[in-house]
Amino acid sequence: MAPQRKKLFIKTYGCQMNVYDSERMRDVLAPLGYEPIDAPDDADLVILNTCHIREKAAEKVYSELGRLRPHKDAKADSNRPMTIAVAGCVGQAEGAEIMKRAPVVDLVVGPQTYHKLPELIAQTHRARGERLETEFEPVAKFDALAGDRAVEGHSAFLTVQEGCDKFCTFCVVPYTRGAEWSRPVDQIVAEARILASKGVREITLLGQNVNAYHGEAPAGREADGAWGLGRLLRHLALIGGLDRIRYTTSHPRDMDDELIAAHGDLECLMPYLHLPVQSGSDKILKAMNRQHSFEEYARVIEKVRSVRPDIAISGDFIVGFPGETDVDFEATLQGVREINYASAFSFKYSRRPGTPGAAMPLQIDEAVASERLQTLQSLLVEQQTGFNRTQIGKRLPVLFEKAGRIDGQLHGRSPYLQSLHCDAPSHLVGQIADVVITDATRNSLTGRLVEKADAA
Ligand code: 5AD
Ligand code: SF4
Repeated sequence: MAPQRKKLFIKTYGCQMNVYDSERMRDVLAPLGYEPIDAPDDADLVILNTCHIREKAAEKVYSELGRLRPHKDAKADSNRPMTIAVAGCVGQAEGAEIMKRAPVVDLVVGPQTYHKLPELIAQTHRARGERLETEFEPVAKFDALAGDRAVEGHSAFLTVQEGCDKFCTFCVVPYTRGAEWSRPVDQIVAEARILASKGVREITLLGQNVNAYHGEAPAGREADGAWGLGRLLRHLALIGGLDRIRYTTSHPRDMDDELIAAHGDLECLMPYLHLPVQSGSDKILKAMNRQHSFEEYARVIEKVRSVRPDIAISGDFIVGFPGETDVDFEATLQGVREINYASAFSFKYSRRPGTPGAAMPLQIDEAVASERLQTLQSLLVEQQTGFNRTQIGKRLPVLFEKAGRIDGQLHGRSPYLQSLHCDAPSHLVGQIADVVITDATRNSLTGRLVEKADAA
């Protein structure tokens, strides 16, 4: 007998790793009859997959719990009460506090234990005196089922590594996601093959420190010891149907020569590298415990550019880290001018409880940090617009992902991860086709599809 149908609403906050985890939670819960819906109002189960990286991100969870309360109350006396779960990094960092501060929450689950969700939900229902699904499958089975993936679209995330041992002094990740851990190569290949067989053309390998990847070698190659990311990429490049591979996020210290060489050798490895530096000042980099100087970072970029000159470089920056002076901030601007970024993310330092940065003297005034952020962002926007405009007149292969906002248009991505809109027939969704770029703005490109005749 099929399990009773239930409605599942998952809201995802934060990084791509959470997007991936949410998809896997959906996969794990599907055999219990949970079907995804787009709004929480009528859900049997609501999961907030949360982010703890900055204070604002964490606070959003409490606001959302407040909004959910009336919906939960409205269903309380029905035969289908709402269960609310908090997953992800806020769950890991503040589990007990959440249960106290927001009694509306039924259960909390950390990022490493989402495969236990069926069991935890059952426990919650049992505690409420509800009847359990008689078809409830053993957890081991769900683990096995989690090997299959429901796939939407033609571009997918694939987690290859989790956790971080770098302990940058501003960052909560080593505490919420734990120590570095890599999935074995065979497991990743199996998942990549499933994705390819379901029409996925592009995969993005995910990890908090993805280029620190050191996974168990495939069966028969055990003598190799652990494989690094460069080697893994070469192996994945052989899978038929996967035309594009990306990876994120990397640490400058782990950009080894094999990985850099892969950027020159592998056609399917897209010319885009997200390599955060955080600051251009060596004094601040030291205080952040980044374990590299700006010069060392710049040298890595130079090496990557020497094998792949057109590569788009992206980065992350933090302004207003404790002790940051005008001179330090000027060094960041100078560093940005030197690298010339195709895109970047920049943030005001957020003081996270429990991290060494939170206890440092010379915390920076909010107004100063805001002003610096604005200055940095206008420079980065200028560079991003400039990079996009260099594509005008070029012919780029575009992976079309979905319908565009305007009728008759499709939305796709260039090799450099730029968003692109152009007039194109809907049968091209999921295909890669050449487009001549006709215009570019800060956030996207427009283009003209190359007709078959001129594609010859
Ligand atoms: N404050 C501001 N930004 C942060 N990041 C991580 N921790 C903090 C913090 N405490 C930023 C870094 C990182 C990105 C994912 O988030 O730039 O690379
Ligand atoms: Fe956080 Fe630093 Fe690890 Fe990145 S490398 S996850 S910023 S501790």
